[in-house]
This record gives sequence, structure tokens and C-alpha cells, in this order.
Amino acid sequence: MADYLSMTKPQLLEEQAGLQQQYDAFAQKGLKLDMSRGKPSPEQLDFSLGLLEMTDHIDDTGVDARNYGELEGLPETRRYFASLLGAKPEETFVAGNSSLNFMYNMVDLGWRKGFVQGEKPWKDQERIKFLCPSPGYDRHFRVTEVFGFELLIVPMTPDGPDMDIVEDLVQDEAVKGIWCIPVYSNPDGYVYSDETVRRLAKMDTAAGDFRIFWDNAYFAHHFTKDHKTCLNILDESRKAGHEDRPLMFCSTSKMTFAGAGACAMAASVANIKLASDFLFSTTICYDKINQLRHVRYFAREGGLEAHMQRHAAVIAPKFKTVIKTLHAELDHHGKIARWTEPVGGYFLSLFTLDGCARRVVELCKQAGVVLTGAGAAYPYGKDPSDNHIRIAPTYPPLDELELAAQLLCICTRMASVEKLLEIA
Ligand SMILES: Cc1ncc(COP(=O)(O)O)c(C=O)c1O
Repeated sequence: MADYLSMTKPQLLEEQAGLQQQYDAFAQKGLKLDMSRGKPSPEQLDFSLGLLEMTDHIDDTGVDARNYGELEGLPETRRYFASLLGAKPEETFVAGNSSLNFMYNMVDLGWRKGFVQGEKPWKDQERIKFLCPSPGYDRHFRVTEVFGFELLIVPMTPDGPDMDIVEDLVQDEAVKGIWCIPVYSNPDGYVYSDETVRRLAKMDTAAGDFRIFWDNAYFAHHFTKDHKTCLNILDESRKAGHEDRPLMFCSTSKMTFAGAGACAMAASVANIKLASDFLFSTTICYDKINQLRHVRYFAREGGLEAHMQRHAAVIAPKFKTVIKTLHAELDHHGKIARWTEPVGGYFLSLFTLDGCARRVVELCKQAGVVLTGAGAAYPYGKDPSDNHIRIAPTYPPLDELELAAQLLCICTRMASVEKLLEIA
């Protein structure tokens, strides 16, 4: 097997003909596979079926979850989520089924009311910008896009966002915040280093109302015994005199039922008060029955860690299969692709030669495998290098995943050869 990058034009043409045959053979299988969505598989959802049997409704302080009240969450559930997020109960707000919705509400708070007394709300400021470590989570970017922020790409590194660039960009007063997924980031699966967390906490920002949206969606999603964690941004920010800077989020959507979990935010007491006042006009309270049954269910099942180990037993072989196939099919053709190999989370990233990602996705689609659209993990859906594809291995069954990964590799090779022929 030869390095594509050093092949002559006739060699590339010969390789192309061989790949076309392999591709046609796949296309004839009539596949209908989907590696596009970061969804739990039915097998994973079954681990939480017991939730539906739970009828607990009185929390350990005597509050009846069936009734109105406790906007910031049941006391028992605030204590529980506080322990998960590394905060105090009074610094924790337990809300509804979607952390993304809560994040949207917090951006709305900054936009409509403002986080800092005496400062104009974001909607009244002339220019507003938001930092988007990329590749990242498309839905984060979309939230700030709809509020009219200019979205600025910050390259991701295995240690988190490139902090030299972040520190430079926050010298602009128009930069109001940053999206962060600190543990098993979506989509690379990277974990922020201690240095990254400390620099985010300490850095001077021109904007006094700069906020870190710290979405710890995957803090419990380890596949191996090597459990990665990162420093607590609230503690670090407090030490640096910026305790109001971070808003930390988590959710059980990828632990129990996607879209029917419970979410929480931890932040300074001042920020929790702002959130309560702001959300007061949107709802009387969230679904406390669901909050309570989550806490009690995890306890009944041996704790969150034991519950997540069941998920890991299903997810780990899927990641292994994809990564094994990528090595087997792409290692021997020169540097036409690289990929991340996470030990937790829900995604991995495949990087093709520049200008090839869209073509790979298109080729896969024509042969029956749907991938996340190329560019989806960048602000405005535009990957400036057109080289990134987000792979979501959790949903398809293992045998289908193996086929899909094989096709993905053939398409990656085809698109690489096409690109190299353009310049040969
Ligand atoms: C990083 C991240 N945050 C949040 C969410 C959505 O969470 P929720 O269902 O709690 O809104 C996802 C879902 O893919 C995600 O990847």
C-alpha cells in the first residue's frame, strides 16, 4: 500500500479505479445507515426504563414534588446536582428537561436584562461577539447566532481552546462570552487541561459582563477506567476574583432519556439570583417529579457511576470498532486523514485533507450512510478548511457501524485521490 501523497498521476488514476469498484460494491448493498446523530441507542435507553416505575414525590426535606413551588429545584435535587457540579446547593439551580434550553435562557438574560448592574444589556450594545471553540457543538453556536452575536472561531487543541487566541480576543469589549465543553468535548472528545481552566478563570477581559458557558454535558461519560476530569471553573474563577464569570451546566439527557432528563446550572449566588428573577416570569416551576425520580433512581441503581458503566459497556465497543476500522483502512496511505480517539463522551472527529470533508459526506450519502453535514461543527455551519467530519458512533448497532466505518474510509480515500488528482 502506497502513500497517496507521493503517487504519480497514473498511480492515482489506478487507485481511483480500484476504489470505485469497492464503492460500487457497497452502494449495491442498499445500505440505510445513520452515523449523524449523537443519540443514545435503544439498548442504552433501556437502562433507564425503571425510571418510569418511580413514584417518589416527597423530597427529603418534606417538599411535595407534585405541587407548584421551588423554582430553583427541589432542595434534595439541588443538593444532588450541586455535588455533581462541585458547587454548593445555594449555587445550584435544577430546572427542566434541557440544559440547552437553560443555556438559551441565560444568553437571553444577558441579552435582555444584562448580567452586570450599570452595564447595558447585550441587546443594547453596538457590537456583540461570542467565542466558539471549533469544532464545537452546533447548537451552542446556533443559540448565540439567533441573538445576533458575531461568532468567532477559536481553534480547539487537545488541551481545550487555543488560549493564546482567546486571551487576545477578549481584549475586545464586544466579546461577551465563550462556549466550553470541558470534558470529552463535542465533537473531539478532548478534556481541558488545568492550565486552560486556570487561564480562562484568570484572564483579563475588556468586557465586564464576559461569561463562560461551561457545558459539562459529558463529565460522567467515561468508557475506560481512565476517568478524565478537569478543574472546577467556579472555584478557579473565585480564586481569581471572577466568581460571576462562569455558568456551569449539566444534564441527564445522555444518562437516562434524551430530551426527558433533568438539567442543572451552578454559578455564583448572585448569578443564581439573576437566573431566578429572570425565569420567574417564564414558569412557576420546573418538573420536580422528574428531578426527584432521577436522583432516587440513580441511588436505587447503585449510583450514577454504576449507571454510566452500563452505558460504557455498550458505547466503548462502538468507538473501538470505528477507531480500529479507521486505523486498518487509513493508516497506510500517507497523511490523508487523522482522527481523535476519545476515552469518553459521544463523538469523535475525523479530519480529512483540506477541501475533502464535504465530498466524503456526499459520497457516503450516495451509498446509503448518513453522516453529520460537513461544516456542522463550525459557526454558521461553515468549516473554513472543509476538513472536519463529526462521527457519532452511539446509535447504530455494532455490525452496521462497522460497515458504515468501512464505507467512510473508502469515501475518505476516494475524496483524497480526487483532490490529489486536481493538483497532480
Ligand atoms: C455538549 C452538549 N450540550 C448539551 C446537549 C443537549 O443537552 P440537553 O438535552 O440537556 O438539552 C448536547 C446534546 O447533544 C450536547 O452535546
